[in-house]
Amino acid sequence: MPHRYRRLRASAAIRGLVRETHLLADDLLQPFFVIDGKNKKEPIDAMPGVFRYSVDLLLKEIAACVRLGAKGGILFGVSRHKDNTGKYAYAANGPVPCAIKAIKKHFPQFFIVTDVCLCAYMGHGHCGIVEAQKINNDKTLPVLARMALCHAQAGADMVAPSDMMDFRVAAIRQALNKENFQDVGILSYAVKYASAYYGPFREAAHSAPGFGDRRSYQMDAANSREALKEALQDLDEGADMVMVKPALVYLDIVSLLRRKLNVPIVAYNVSGEYAMVKAAAQNGWIDERSLVLETLTSIKRAGADIIISYHAKAALEWLR
Ligand code: PBG
Ligand code: ZN
Repeated sequence: MPHRYRRLRASAAIRGLVRETHLLADDLLQPFFVIDGKNKKEPIDAMPGVFRYSVDLLLKEIAACVRLGAKGGILFGVSRHKDNTGKYAYAANGPVPCAIKAIKKHFPQFFIVTDVCLCAYMGHGHCGIVEAQKINNDKTLPVLARMALCHAQAGADMVAPSDMMDFRVAAIRQALNKENFQDVGILSYAVKYASAYYGPFREAAHSAPGFGDRRSYQMDAANSREALKEALQDLDEGADMVMVKPALVYLDIVSLLRRKLNVPIVAYNVSGEYAMVKAAAQNGWIDERSLVLETLTSIKRAGADIIISYHAKAALEWLR
């Protein structure tokens, strides 16, 4: 018999009772860009409301997020020091290790994930060691492992390699275990597509590639079979959770991994996705609040357990 579906939509109460997906403060991780220096808060053109913070001001921002119910965040280092070895990526006095120590001192419960990648520390802006204009996978692995170890030593709870070199999860897991950091987790950017949606981030992190593009290591937007294989391999190498990135134009991939894997799935609602919403909102073309809550809910409905989003702080406020 044809059904009157509108019965279960008739009031806020019944809609609440039958609602399947609930976005929670617990699901969200806010990204933070960290720089050297003091008393610095630099705006990012294409990401209104997002800033690069020196550690002192980052602490204030994190305090504000914690008051809103934030449980954790992911840190990205932005460095003026760049070379072609990537050594600044594992400098113990770099912006990320300093930020980790300061955050853990004031907010020991705040869950810190760190992005592990070399692009922000390389003169050429690529995510790995470059030789003769090519990215050398295996020479990159020990550098990534050192970077992850440096973050673990500073007190990070979890490291998140975003470089897309093969076998880096194994290299990082092994390096962490050897130094007794068995309890530091790995969130692998296992399924990271070569995406135009990263544009604003590269402005924020000063990490745009100086030549060529990232298509020899990031995934082709047209492919989905490879996504499952990448995720399975990273789990096999020791990843605790796997990420799909970007989120919105890859919700089919989020859903695929959710159905095939029994581990937490993370989706990264990236900088370009944020920028589009902010631009439309600033023009008065959309209602930012409902659009953001709808968007984040869709990512969760598709199967993400955790959502990394530049909207996280605002969403925390709206969810209260
Ligand atoms: C660095 C990195 C990137 C992002 C996260 N880590 C950029 C890139 O691969 O060029 C993108 C995040 C975003 O766009 O918000 N490897
Ligand atoms: Zn990178």
